[in-house]
Amino acid sequence: MSASFPSAPADWWRSAVVYQIYPRSFADSDGDGIGDLAGARARLDYLADLGVDAIWLTPFYPSPLVDGGYDVADYQDVDPRLGTLQDVDALVLAAHRRGIRVIVDIVPNHTSDQHPWFRAARAAPPGDPARRRYHFHDGSGPDGAEPPSDWRSHFGGSAWERLPDGQWYLHLFSREQPDLNWDDPDVRQYFQDTLRFWADRGIDGFRVDVAHALAKDMSEPLRSQPTLDAALPQDGTDPLYDRDEVHEVYRSWRRVFEEYDPPRMAVAETWAPTNDRTYLYARPTELGQVFDFSLLKSAWSRDSFLGVVRRALADHARHADAGGGLTWVLSSHDVPRHASRLALPPDVAPEDWVRTRGASPRIDLETGRRRARAATLMMLALPGSAYLYQGEELGLPEVPDLPLEALQDPIGRRSDHDLPGRDGCRVPLPWTSTGPTFGFSTGRSWLPQPPSFAPYAADVQTDDPASTLTLYRRAIALRKALQEPDTTVTWLSTDDPGVLHFRRSNGWECLVNFGTVPSELPDGQVLLSSEPLDGGKVPPESTAWFRRPGAE
Ligand code: NOJ
Repeated sequence: MSASFPSAPADWWRSAVVYQIYPRSFADSDGDGIGDLAGARARLDYLADLGVDAIWLTPFYPSPLVDGGYDVADYQDVDPRLGTLQDVDALVLAAHRRGIRVIVDIVPNHTSDQHPWFRAARAAPPGDPARRRYHFHDGSGPDGAEPPSDWRSHFGGSAWERLPDGQWYLHLFSREQPDLNWDDPDVRQYFQDTLRFWADRGIDGFRVDVAHALAKDMSEPLRSQPTLDAALPQDGTDPLYDRDEVHEVYRSWRRVFEEYDPPRMAVAETWAPTNDRTYLYARPTELGQVFDFSLLKSAWSRDSFLGVVRRALADHARHADAGGGLTWVLSSHDVPRHASRLALPPDVAPEDWVRTRGASPRIDLETGRRRARAATLMMLALPGSAYLYQGEELGLPEVPDLPLEALQDPIGRRSDHDLPGRDGCRVPLPWTSTGPTFGFSTGRSWLPQPPSFAPYAADVQTDDPASTLTLYRRAIALRKALQEPDTTVTWLSTDDPGVLHFRRSNGWECLVNFGTVPSELPDGQVLLSSEPLDGGKVPPESTAWFRRPGAE
């Protein structure tokens, strides 16, 4: 068993840089073309050099991989393709030795249809207690042949699937991901046991998948909710999302986290814009932190970035007493990578661009590179914690034109590619500029990497002072040196419509130039910039960190 992290301030996560590992695409150790836990362990020195405080591993549990591992068949084991429990222990130990904490994903809204509970439920007749752990329901219409309600799946189509015996079960994601019934005591107990199972192995925290969906109003008649969670009511009255009862679940989880020293941390994934209700999940009596995905949905524009950051800081200040943490995210395994996304015109939705397989509009990768670096430097200058997605430190672009037959994501496959799948941000990392899989595997990579990945390889970038990898390393190190607990941000130069400029309370400043002409810098010492300065000015589409004379 691995020991807990040795010298931990309990609230390390408040200002952490957390690096998201999508294990199947990170590094493969055994040549089967699928990344694994031993591969991740072998790359820990790279992550230590990058300077991250923690890694978050997306699900590595046994899974039929219908949804990239978010269809879990056993919450207390490791998928044999990714390793063993001993590999988890070895990874945690090796990470802790390097001062890196480890967060795992908990998927409590749904299991895989291959989970023993669902197999038993499916085999049992309607009305059998084995079905109570899920949401089984009779259909509507003549002979119950219509779904029980109009609820939609996030992956397209109805959220109900009919079994041959006539009953329907609920799945807010794919039909192979049946939703659990959180009114059932077995379900509650199982997840508490699962949290302890991983915490006992030295896991430092948990990322909670679709945290706002667990509690559902199944009272009759089922209420209409045809719109997914896009426009949630702000009073907890939606039948499926963000119901008040869900908080009791997280209060019980907090009691589990507090059984450990240091207490385990958690971060909630909720797809509603961060607001007063979302912050309820971040209460110190619950999960502590909630993702704010607004930057990940922002186009490259000063007004949209400024709007997001101001709103997030204001939300945070309003809830400061409750203790919730600020978070920032620019890329993840669910959205097109920001080195491509930010090159799009503001009126083009990234999903629509992916739907055209990157053909319309064509993007300029150099523009994307500059903007992505500028956006990252802005994010890393903000108070709070930053969640990085593997490969963004290499400046990797999205791969929107993978061969159709290679695509795996259910969103794309199920809709005949009418809905944009998420494979393009999950392409395995290039570690070396040569070799058939760019050093990812000695076998054949499970998703093909385009030849254009070669110049992004880690080995090309590692000693290049101008590379994106070097920029991330410098920024993370500097941020650590400059970090302070005060989350106050003072806005400066607000009259320049091309510039976003703020000062942290210890005197450090960050200026992002969204405009088309170089922007003047006040006198002072430049600490870091995303592009070389242009005669002392910040070039268009770039960011500089600096300190004025006399500032601490
Ligand atoms: C959110 C995860 O990030 C995503 O990848 C997954 O498909 C859904 N939750 C369902 O678990």
